[in-house]
Amino acid sequence: MTEARTETRAARVDNTLPLDVVVLGGGGHVGLPLSLAFADAGLRVGIYDINEATLDRIARGEMPFLESGADELLPDVLRTGRLELGSSADMIGRADAVIVVIGTPVDEFLGPSMRVFERAVDQIEPNLRDGALVVLRSTVYPGTTEFVVAALAERGCRADVAFCPERIAEGHALEELASLPQIVGADTPAAGDRAEALFGRLASKTIRTTSREAELTKLFTNTWRYMKFAVANQFFAIADQAGVDYTNVLRAIREDYPRAADLPGPGFAAGPCLFKDTMQLAAFTSDHFPLGQAAMQINEGMPAYIVSALERRHGTLRGRTVGILGMAFKAESDDIRASLSFKLRKLLEWAGARVVATDEYVTDNRLVPLADVLAEADILVIGAPHHAYRSLDLDGREVVDIWNATGAGIRL
Ligand SMILES: NC(=O)c1ccc[n+]([C@@H]2O[C@H](COP(=O)([O-])OP(=O)(O)OC[C@H]3O[C@@H](n4cnc5c(N)ncnc54)[C@H](O)[C@@H]3O)[C@@H](O)[C@H]2O)c1
Repeated sequence: MTEARTETRAARVDNTLPLDVVVLGGGGHVGLPLSLAFADAGLRVGIYDINEATLDRIARGEMPFLESGADELLPDVLRTGRLELGSSADMIGRADAVIVVIGTPVDEFLGPSMRVFERAVDQIEPNLRDGALVVLRSTVYPGTTEFVVAALAERGCRADVAFCPERIAEGHALEELASLPQIVGADTPAAGDRAEALFGRLASKTIRTTSREAELTKLFTNTWRYMKFAVANQFFAIADQAGVDYTNVLRAIREDYPRAADLPGPGFAAGPCLFKDTMQLAAFTSDHFPLGQAAMQINEGMPAYIVSALERRHGTLRGRTVGILGMAFKAESDDIRASLSFKLRKLLEWAGARVVATDEYVTDNRLVPLADVLAEADILVIGAPHHAYRSLDLDGREVVDIWNATGAGIRL
């Protein structure tokens, strides 16, 4: 079935030709923009993904998620015939390089699952060309690259392996793949040179490290960001508990004072990366990572902080209708993975409130149009600070907006 579908999907593509690169997980949030960027740079690219529905959408020229500039680029790239789509590992056998960008979630113990890369090796090794380049692009637990090197060698497979972490912000991948330096982590000159040549097709600057250095670089980068958001949220809570308006405090901290200009505002720090990468780092320290673990408690605690504040103000939330505006994990995104708006909805329902929720970009049959939320809710909470909420006529309504998305100040 997969071969027939491959032909149908890429009717204008000769699927016997060599490929420059196959992206395993190429239909995903990281894999698809990366595949488009490589094809746009002139490479012949194979997208290998097990999600048939996503492959069908891509073949029709439809992006499966929001990504700036990709709606225009995808049809252009499909017309060049340089993009092939398939759900069979066979295409790996025609490629000089394979890039692995599958998801790397933490498990029920908040640690990494090494099975993800055991399975990836099982998947690629039988088809891998002798001497191919294998690049890990997922965010990985330290040591994963060395594990893949050893697992391939044990099977008698000759390959150059590098770790080149993805550092884009979702939604801005196409722009950032070109503008950010690409980190090339490799433990042999050959692997490093080949990976550098490949990513040099996208970016003007590459930074060479060992694989272990690059693995830590990526985890430290995400954890640093997560900790900054936690500081922002805790400062907000301290001011709030002291009865001080944090809007003015934050302005006073940052205004014309460069040393503190990077203090973020409060908000939900969530999504598919920051939490789980901080937890991967905690697991790497044998769970002795007080800063990271405290950051997790603070950030994950924000929905409960809001619900408690509302309960204190109203006595009870029973009989109240609370509207949540924005269910994506961040502004101008349709990605709901690990979004704290869903945790907020659950906690509000536990507290007895009726909850109506909406989002500008997310499609979900439990969500309702913005107009319905505005008509029904007596309390509004901003869950994701989409631009659309800046111009709302709130008519003196009670609004919880820790983001200052409405522009009326940080309000709890
Ligand atoms: N999303 C981001 O903004 C971002 C940024 C930097 C790094 N990362 C990292 O990149 C990795 C991928 O994240 P993502 O957000 O793109 O995930 P995703 O779930 O959007 O994409 C993963 C893709 O892999 C496919 N897939 C899963 N198992 C497969 C298999 N065995 N064979 C073929 N295809 C398979 C899925 O169908 C999916 O299309 C993660 O490690 C993540 O931490 C993500």
